[in-house]
Amino acid sequence: MKSLRFYNFADELERRRFLPIIFSMKRIERSRPRAPRNRTITLSSSDRRRLTRKIFRISFPVSLSEMLDRTFCGGMEEVVRFFPSGCVDLLFLDPPYNLPKSFHRQKYRRLTVQQYGEWMDSWLRPLLRLLKPSSSIYCCSDWRTSIPVAQVLEKYFRIQNRITWEREKGRGAKRNWKNCSEDIWFCTMTERFVFNLGAVKIRRKVLAPYVDPETERPKDWHASQGGKYRTTHPSNLWTDLTVPFWSMPENTDHPTQKPEKLLARVLLASSEKGGVILDPFLGSGTTSVVAKKLGRRYIGIEREKEYCLLAEKRLALADLDKTIQGFHENVFWERNSLPEQRRSGRK
Ligand SMILES: C[S@@+](CC[C@H](N)C(=O)[O-])C[C@H]1O[C@@H](n2cnc3c(N)ncnc32)[C@H](O)[C@@H]1O
Repeated sequence: MKSLRFYNFADELERRRFLPIIFSMKRIERSRPRAPRNRTITLSSSDRRRLTRKIFRISFPVSLSEMLDRTFCGGMEEVVRFFPSGCVDLLFLDPPYNLPKSFHRQKYRRLTVQQYGEWMDSWLRPLLRLLKPSSSIYCCSDWRTSIPVAQVLEKYFRIQNRITWEREKGRGAKRNWKNCSEDIWFCTMTERFVFNLGAVKIRRKVLAPYVDPETERPKDWHASQGGKYRTTHPSNLWTDLTVPFWSMPENTDHPTQKPEKLLARVLLASSEKGGVILDPFLGSGTTSVVAKKLGRRYIGIEREKEYCLLAEKRLALADLDKTIQGFHENVFWERNSLPEQRRSGRK
């Protein structure tokens, strides 16, 4: 009689000619001393052993159900060749910007504006086949790359808006304005797309609470234990985000990790529960983690194994804790408002 055993998806995928990444277990763990309150997510040897089984290389066409909720390790240009057409509801693009930067073992140098546009065009074209007429596309850039990025995007999509978000900390400049903003281009395939405005309301403290003289009732605001607040719809200027840093539970050592709150706003506005989200430049896994926390299906692609493992570690942690810093009770709160969120009596 056959004994019952756990179904192992990794074995199944291996049989189907996926190649899980095998790490050298001789790898020496980085042991940088960290402050006691430092909450940065790191990888232990046992994490590496356990999580290695969860990331995959791909060398054979797969069905949608085999791709969902997975992290694929490899260059996105090659990986997406094996994905079926018309499978993605929301595409989130956070490619390396045109800056000299290192992503683990990869080093990037600055290209000319024209070269950057050509490079972007070369990786964007293979993704088009995966989209549906109702898909939305978000593409991140800094102010400098925004110019070629918009030019490439408008070749294929309808640009609906440009969001600018404030990075709290920017690098100072001696002979220029300090750079502390980034752009996110919001595009769609057609005019038939999901936009859940009611799901992305923001709560702000009211500085001058106005009371309607006739009804003697607050106008557009409400009072709670935490103070007086207005709940409004967000504009295309996002000033409530905090770039992850050492004391935040979502922080990793990835050099350009996006805040979970940013992804939460994008996913809630532009996808439905159960919708399929693809991030082909997954980095530390923020898009997949937020998709999981918000009940979406995710597919992540990342070239660096180290980041794939970090993404899987964060995905495992998301099973234990689904909170997203700054998003509480279905609204987005201002920066540094945790005491108010607590005082509102519900946290
Ligand atoms: C800007 S970062 C993304 C950060 C991510 N949004 C996060 O929150 O962590 C870009 C990532 O793309 C990865 N990358 C660069 N070229 C790639 C390629 N051709 N295929 C897959 N990943 C790639 C880099 O290793 C890097 O981690």
